[in-house]
Amino acid sequence: MVKLLIQKGADVSSPRATGSFFTLKEERLFYFGEHILSFAVCVGNTDIVNLLVESGADIHCQDCWGNTILHILVLQPNRTLACQMFDLLVSLKCAQSSPKLDQIPNHQGLTPLKLCAAEGNVPMFQHLIQKAVRKVSLIGPVSYSLYDLTEIDSWGSPCSVLHLLVSSSKSEARRILDLSPVKELVNEKWQSFGRPYFLILAALYVTYMICMSLCCANRPLRKLSRNLTSTRDFTILEAVPFQ
Ligand SMILES: *[C@@H]1O[C@H](CO)[C@@H](O)[C@H](O)[C@H]1NC(C)=O
Repeated sequence: MVKLLIQKGADVSSPRATGSFFTLKEERLFYFGEHILSFAVCVGNTDIVNLLVESGADIHCQDCWGNTILHILVLQPNRTLACQMFDLLVSLKCAQSSPKLDQIPNHQGLTPLKLCAAEGNVPMFQHLIQKAVRKVSLIGPVSYSLYDLTEIDSWGSPCSVLHLLVSSSKSEARRILDLSPVKELVNEKWQSFGRPYFLILAALYVTYMICMSLCCANRPLRKLSRNLTSTRDFTILEAVPFQ
């Protein structure tokens, strides 16, 4: 049917579904974007996706939220399907042309990887990280992995994956902190910045509390100057006021 429509000259790029039914809602039961291509991608129909792309559908299209097809995939409930379609899209030749499809931010300034972090989409985040890792093998069994931390590290960027993870309202987002390379990065930051800072503050606090306790325990006392009419057999002391 799609083939036939395209042969008859159907427009694969410009039509958009812009009704309120198709918009991104809080409960998000149904959000497939606005373009024909993003519908095909979200239902996972590889044949239609290839057909549409060959017929000139714009793979860089963005909906009214600025979300590209990759952003929309991050928000889909079926993670397996989303990862498969993500790979398919990124491997297409037109996705490599500038700007690269997976580097386009939406109107919130989030790239697909950052959206994964903000939404707590652990499988997809892991998938994207694994795609970008470069394994370098040294002699024999020794090898190491190179991760791209540009979007992840908080250094110099006000909206990094680390910021999004700690500020996200979704509790699943915190599970990303257990994944490489975020785990190692946080650990490294803790070792080199957090721990010394914490230890200094703790030492200052303990010193302060010791001084405070000693002062309270040893403060000078004197007999209460007011004459109490009570005949009871005890002495009341009061703190000596500062001169
Ligand atoms: C998710 O997608 C996969 C791959 O297409 C499919 O096998 C699976 O049944 C889907 N899961 C659900 C819950 O729809």
